[in-house]
Amino acid sequence: MSDRSEHRKQCGNPVGEAGVEVGKRMNVHHEPLREWGLSNLEINPELNILDIGCGGGHAVKRLHELYPAAKISGIDHSPDMVELTREVNAQAVEEGAVDLLVGSVSKLPFPDEYFELAVAMETVYFWPEIASDIIEVHRTLLPGGILLILQAS
Ligand SMILES: C[S@@+](CC[C@H](N)C(=O)[O-])C[C@H]1O[C@@H](n2cnc3c(N)ncnc32)[C@H](O)[C@@H]1O
Repeated sequence: MSDRSEHRKQCGNPVGEAGVEVGKRMNVHHEPLREWGLSNLEINPELNILDIGCGGGHAVKRLHELYPAAKISGIDHSPDMVELTREVNAQAVEEGAVDLLVGSVSKLPFPDEYFELAVAMETVYFWPEIASDIIEVHRTLLPGGILLILQAS
């Protein structure tokens, strides 16, 4: 496998030491997009927020900083990314403000109409069934809830 396709594979499902390094790099490289996207939100969620494909965990961290009253859930199909997100958000996890799960966007382990905001940053193009996956996210959103899809290109 070429370096390029190995890198793409790791971005879609980061595993092992190399995956953790990719997750840490994404935390840094995605900061401008993350800040731009979150600064354009016109809501102030106070209940439940979901970060889908939470990767290295900096979006979860930032969401907790911006919306301290909300409960933030992060989900990723890579157990190594969930572990990294847990390390990055250790205190908030301990305090019960952040909850992290291994799982897929295709079958979210959350009830209907639960989240005010779902964030999907640089992850949608890896989802296996984009149409039904978005319907699945929609199922978990409160009426009027927002799905914020962020990608640089
Ligand atoms: C390019 S990374 C982006 C990580 C993070 N959102 C960020 O912007 O830094 C894509 C992430 O989406 C996750 N992912 C890809 N497909 C997924 C799926 N079907 N369900 C849950 N997570 C998924 C990957 O494991 C990876 O952590």
